[in-house]
Amino acid sequence: MKPHHTERILFDELSIRRRIPKLAEEIAVASSSPTLDVIGILRGSFIFLADLVREFHVHHVRTRVDFIVAESYGVGTDSSGQVRLLRDFDLDVRGSEVLLVDDILDTGRTLAFARDHVRSRGARRVRTCVLLDKPARRVVPIDADHVAFVCPNEFVVGYGLDYEHWYRDLPWIAAVTFTDAPTSSGATG
Ligand code: IMP
Ligand code: MG
Repeated sequence: MKPHHTERILFDELSIRRRIPKLAEEIAVASSSPTLDVIGILRGSFIFLADLVREFHVHHVRTRVDFIVAESYGVGTDSSGQVRLLRDFDLDVRGSEVLLVDDILDTGRTLAFARDHVRSRGARRVRTCVLLDKPARRVVPIDADHVAFVCPNEFVVGYGLDYEHWYRDLPWIAAVTFTDAPTSSGATG
């Protein structure tokens, strides 16, 4: 593992812990159904989703949880434009309300692809929720319905987000300062 500087914290543990219940409330208030099929995009969403779904019982929202694995081909910290589905979800979402959850909305390719995929499976309503929104990087015109934090245009890690699969375990979100040029496939989902 190459050393990277990850000391610059953009969103600390306490800010994240305070934001998640508020976000869950926003989502619950905007729901038109007492049940929600929550579909996470792996791998980056796993910690965020786990914290988020545990807040819904307060609002009497019952959930089912499933995941897809999507991969955007990338070199370094950039994605090339192609998204492919590596693992599909199993839930029958026909007629149901779906909350699609991802770690970060960057170019928008992954979320747009996943949203269209879930819609094609017959969901009545698909809403999107991301931990971070990096609007400066958008290529595909898509906005998330629910955003925990707006993120500056930097490569970030922690709380599920990785660089070459490392740093997902950090309990906060930090900017990466590269000590060398990023090598291959920095964005890994
Ligand atoms: P997209 O460019 O919006 O399709 O985002 C593709 C994926 O790249 C996201 O789901 C993340 O997994 C990853 N990604 C984008 N920006 C970052 C970042 O700053 N840190 C870590 N992963 C990122
Ligand atoms: Mg991801």
